Amino acid sequence: MMSQPLFEKVAFIGLGLIGSSLARVMIAENLAKQIVASTRSQKTLDDAKALGLIQAGYSNPVDAVQGADLVVLALPVRATQKVLQTIKPYLSDSTIITDVGSTKGNVVDAAKAVYGEQLPSGFVPGHPIAGAEHTGVHAGKVDLFANHKVILTPLPSSGDWAVQKLIQLWQAAKAEVICMDVEKHDEVLAHTSHLPHLMAFNLVEQLANREDNLDIFRYAAGGFRDFSRIAASDPQMWHDIFFANKKAILNAVDGFEHQLAQIRKLIEDEDSQALMGLLGHAQAARQHFNHMLAKRPLMEKNKVTTQQFTILPGKKNFQGKFTVPGDKSVSHRSIMFGAIAEGTTHVTGFLEGEDALATLQAFRDMGVSIEGPKNGEVTIHGVGINGLKAPKSALYMGNSGTSMRLLSGMLSAQQFDSVMTGDASLSKRPMERIAKPLREMGAQIQTTGERGTPPVSITGSQNLQGIHYDLPMASAQVKSGILLAGLWANGETSVTEPEPTRDHTERMLRAFGYKVKTEGNRISLQGGGKLVGTEIQVPSDISSAAFFMVGAAITEGSDVTLEAVGINPTRTGVIEILKQMGADLTVENERIAGGEPIADIRIRGTRTLKGIHMPEDQVPLAIDEFPALFIAAACAEGQTILTGAAELRVKESDRIQVMADGLKTMGIDCTPTEDGIIIEGKGKAGDWSAIFTGGEIESHHDHRIAMSFSMAGLRSSGVIKIVGTETVATSFPTFTELANQAGLPIQVSE
Ligand code: S3P
Repeated sequence: MMSQPLFEKVAFIGLGLIGSSLARVMIAENLAKQIVASTRSQKTLDDAKALGLIQAGYSNPVDAVQGADLVVLALPVRATQKVLQTIKPYLSDSTIITDVGSTKGNVVDAAKAVYGEQLPSGFVPGHPIAGAEHTGVHAGKVDLFANHKVILTPLPSSGDWAVQKLIQLWQAAKAEVICMDVEKHDEVLAHTSHLPHLMAFNLVEQLANREDNLDIFRYAAGGFRDFSRIAASDPQMWHDIFFANKKAILNAVDGFEHQLAQIRKLIEDEDSQALMGLLGHAQAARQHFNHMLAKRPLMEKNKVTTQQFTILPGKKNFQGKFTVPGDKSVSHRSIMFGAIAEGTTHVTGFLEGEDALATLQAFRDMGVSIEGPKNGEVTIHGVGINGLKAPKSALYMGNSGTSMRLLSGMLSAQQFDSVMTGDASLSKRPMERIAKPLREMGAQIQTTGERGTPPVSITGSQNLQGIHYDLPMASAQVKSGILLAGLWANGETSVTEPEPTRDHTERMLRAFGYKVKTEGNRISLQGGGKLVGTEIQVPSDISSAAFFMVGAAITEGSDVTLEAVGINPTRTGVIEILKQMGADLTVENERIAGGEPIADIRIRGTRTLKGIHMPEDQVPLAIDEFPALFIAAACAEGQTILTGAAELRVKESDRIQVMADGLKTMGIDCTPTEDGIIIEGKGKAGDWSAIFTGGEIESHHDHRIAMSFSMAGLRSSGVIKIVGTETVATSFPTFTELANQAGLPIQVSE
C-alpha cells in the first residue's frame, strides 16, 4: 500500500472488466486521491458508485478529465480517436494518457489523427494481458493483473516521467511490466493472441458447417473444448481487433498456412521421424516456454516473481531411502553426443531439470528429432557429425554454464552462425575461458557481454585446427568444450589439466565409439571421426545426493540411504571430505551401470563432525558440493579451512561470498578469503542442539545455495527463509518433495 498516492485524480473513460479492476487496485493500494469515470451507460456509473469504485460519474468525458493527472482509456479501441478529439482541449501537459487496448498501432494512429505527429509526452499506450470470461463493472477483480504481463509501448515522444509512473502503477497491481515498441507489440500479439483466436473461431466454424455438426459437437472431447474455448469470446471485439491489427495478423496467418502445409506433408509422406521431431519440439516449447524461449531476457528486466522456501525450527527425524534425480553433467552430454551420433541413442535416468532441458531444447532448435523426456527416458535420432542445422533464433541456455561452454566448442565448428544467451546469472559468468582456446583453434567466437560474458556469438568455421592447450584452471567444462571442437578440427586436439576434473566427456565419447586417449593429466583425440548411437544409463547425481548426505551427517539419529548414486572417482570428493570430517558414511553395493560406477551411500547421524583443513586435491572433485559442505563445517567442532577453491567465486553465484553472508546471518562466525573460507564450527561432541539462529537468506538465485541452507533447517533454532529458490528446478526438481519425505518440511511460496 502506497503511503502517498501516485495520482491526484484518475479519470477512467469506460469502466468494464479492465477499467473497474484497475480502479479496484487503485483503491486497495491507495494509488489515487480521487477516481472518476465517464461511460455512456448511466447504470454502469451508478453501479460503480454503489460499489465504491468512483467518487463521481459523468456521461460526458470532458467533465471527467478536467484536472486529472491520469486518464485511462478503457473503452473499445475503435472509439479512441473520437474520445481523444473530445477531451484534448481539457488535458494539461502533465496529464498521463494511457489505454488498455489489445492493439497498439491503431491507437497511435488515432492519437496522431488528433494531435498530428507531435504527440503529448504524457501519452503512453499500454496493454494489460489479462481477461476473464465475464465482462462489465461487476466482473472486475482486484487481482486480475497479479502475475500477468502488462506491455507498455512508450513512443519516442513519451516522457520517462510518465512511463515510470505507469510502471509503478502496474507493479502495484502485481503485474510484470514489459516495455516494447508498438510494432513489436502488434506482431507478438498477432501470433500469441490474435491468431489463436482466429483459429479457434475458424475451427468451430468448420465443424459447425458440417451436416453432422450436432453429432460432432455431441461427441467432441476435451481437445475440442480446450481448443475452442476462446471462440466463445465477443465477436464484435474480435472483429475490431482483426481489422485494427490487419497487417500483423495477415503475416501470422501466412506463417500458419506455411506450417500447416509442412505438417500436412509429413503426415502424407508418413515421415515418422520428422513428425515426431516436430511434435516433440512443439511439446517441449509449450511445456517450458517460460524458461526456454529466447525471448525471456526481454521479460526479465522487470521480473517480479521469485520463489521462497520457509523452514520452521524444531527437532527433526531425517530418515529413509531415496533416489535423487539423474546426473546433470551426464544428462547434458547424452543429448549433445546423441545428437551428433549416427543412429539412435536411448537414454534412461535423464535429469528433467531446466539446465539439461535447455540443452535438449537447443538441439531441437538445431533440427534434431528428440522424443521425451518421459519418466527419464529420451530417444535421440542422431543427425551425424555434420547434420546440425542453423537455429532460427538465439539458443537460450537458461542458467546452464555447462550447456553454453560445451556448445561453444561444438558450434564453433558448424556450417552456420549462432548466438547463445542465458538468464541473469549465466549472463554474468566468464566465457572467455572457453572462447580463448577456441580462437587459438581458429574459431570466430565473441563474448558480447561486458567483461567476457554472454551472449556468445559464433561465426561457424569448417577449418578449425587441433591444438594443445594447458588449462590454466581445473575446469571440466573448458576441457570438454575444447575436446568437442576437436571432433571437427584437423589433426589432434589435446588438453592438460592442472588437476583431474570430471571425465564424463571422455567416458561418454568412448561409449559412442570415439577414441579418446588419457595419459596422466593429458587428454587427446583426433578430429574427423564419427560417433555411433548407443544406450546411456544416467546415474543419480552425487551433487544432488550431497545435500541429503550433509543433512544426515548433522542430524542426530538420522539414517539416510541414497540409492544408485554415480561414484565416478572424479566426483567423489564430497564422500572423502565428509569421511575426513568423521561422518558415519558407508558406500555399499558398488556396481557398474552404463559405463559409470554407482553405489548406495548410507549416512547416519551418530557422531559430531570435526573441522578440518579440506584437502586441496579434492577441490575439483567436490567443486559443486562446497555450499553443502560449509553447512556441515558450521555444525562441526572446531575450525574448517578451505583453500585453493577460487573457482567457487565464478559459479552460478560467488559461492564463497554468498555462503559467508548467509552463514553470518545464521550466527556462524566465518571469514571469506580470496580462494576459500574459514568457518568456526559451533558443534560440540555429543551435543545435537541447534547450531543456526535462523534468518532470511538471499540465495542469489543459485540452486545449490538454496538447497544447502535448506539443510541448515535440520539444526536451526529460528525460522529460515530462503529467497530466490526457483532455480532449484535447474538441477533437482524433486528436492522439496524428497526433503519432505525425509522429514524436513519445506514450505514453498511464490
Ligand atoms: C561441469 C563442470 C563443473 C561443474 C558444473 C558441471 C560439467 O564446472 O561445476 O556444475 O558438467 O562439466 P567447471 O568446469 O566450471 O568447473
